[in-house]
Amino acid sequence: MKGIRSVGITGVGSYAPEKVLTNFDLEKMVDTTDEWIVSRSGIRERHIASEEKSTSDLACDASIRAMKDAGVKPEDIDLIIMATVSPDKIVPSTACIVQGKLGCVNAGAFDVMAGCTGFIYALSVARQMVATGSNNTVLVIGADLLSKLTDWEDRNTCVLFGDGGGAAIVQPVEEGYGLIDHIVGAKGLGHLCIEIPAGGTFMPATHKSIDDRQHYIKMLGKEVFKFAVKTIEKTTVELAEKTGIPIDKIKLIVPHQANSRIMDAGKKRLKLADGVMYSNLEKYGNTSAGTIPLALADALADGKINKGDYVMLVGFGAGLTNGAIIMKWAYEVNQPEKRYAVRGAVQ
Ligand SMILES: CC(C)(COP(=O)(O)OP(=O)(O)OC[C@H]1O[C@@H](n2cnc3c(N)ncnc32)[C@H](O)[C@@H]1OP(=O)(O)O)[C@@H](O)C(=O)NCCC(=O)NCCS
Repeated sequence: MKGIRSVGITGVGSYAPEKVLTNFDLEKMVDTTDEWIVSRSGIRERHIASEEKSTSDLACDASIRAMKDAGVKPEDIDLIIMATVSPDKIVPSTACIVQGKLGCVNAGAFDVMAGCTGFIYALSVARQMVATGSNNTVLVIGADLLSKLTDWEDRNTCVLFGDGGGAAIVQPVEEGYGLIDHIVGAKGLGHLCIEIPAGGTFMPATHKSIDDRQHYIKMLGKEVFKFAVKTIEKTTVELAEKTGIPIDKIKLIVPHQANSRIMDAGKKRLKLADGVMYSNLEKYGNTSAGTIPLALADALADGKINKGDYVMLVGFGAGLTNGAIIMKWAYEVNQPEKRYAVRGAVQ
């Protein structure tokens, strides 16, 4: 094994489909109101993929932008790690489908399923692979297309989710910069809190499972809410203590975007200054493994991050899982070639 080296993100890209579904549109579909959705979740609209698209398409569009941002070509990528809970198919991995579509002919590829914490899990694996010298250029993706797995008759869940994702290129960086440390955790006894019961070996797809709508996302909202509020604080504090980086030195915390009340509670419990807890939730809703890279790309586009800033990503979600990763941002963001076009069609 080669020596440990500094590793960081060298490019970021994101993608959300062009079609927007507002809370007012939802009022016409289920018994809900814009006022209820905004006050309970902070979400105003979400993006919805067109019928012919699958998760790999969103992942590819985000990845093309990330590769362009980092100045790498598909053949430079030597590993693809894809975090998703909405794979194109049960077999094979969506990472392999992405590898084929992008022409990353020199890359190994595998999926990580860790709920909405997936991007952090994937990034932490990429960190190790590049630090040890096993890989040089890893494409890490977090993307989900939940609109096809959402029960559009269930107002408890359908108002919360959306489609989208992001990608990051992970490479060796200047010493002293980049990914510093991470933690990942799980609470498997909570696996029923967020689930899609049917379609796997536990409940193979049958006419009955479909009639019973068991192939859609089910969620115990209140349980998840309690877990999330505790976890966002605990995980942030744990990683800050582990690395010795005080929370007040962190320029930006990019949390999983599930609910503004969860983020507000985190902000209060952690005594954060205004603007430290980044949110773009109102525009996208919860895109599961997609939220963190989508928010990171928006934060870069908003000019919230620059070289040397401490940035922490914090996640929680189905599993139940949690995780956080902290980095010292490795490059000047305002270089002319770093253009953060984050929405709409890929040019
Ligand atoms: C789902 C969530 C927004 C619900 O908010 P809440 O304040 O807990 O609301 P409640 O569950 O107490 O529901 C209150 C009422 O609103 C109703 N309600 C649920 N969805 C509704 C909707 N879309 N519109 C209107 N009313 C709705 C409920 O049926 C309930 O009615 P009842 O009292 O007559 O039974 C909240 O629990 C939550 O955000 N949980 C975490 C979800 C999450 O982040 N998941 C992903 C994590 S990765």
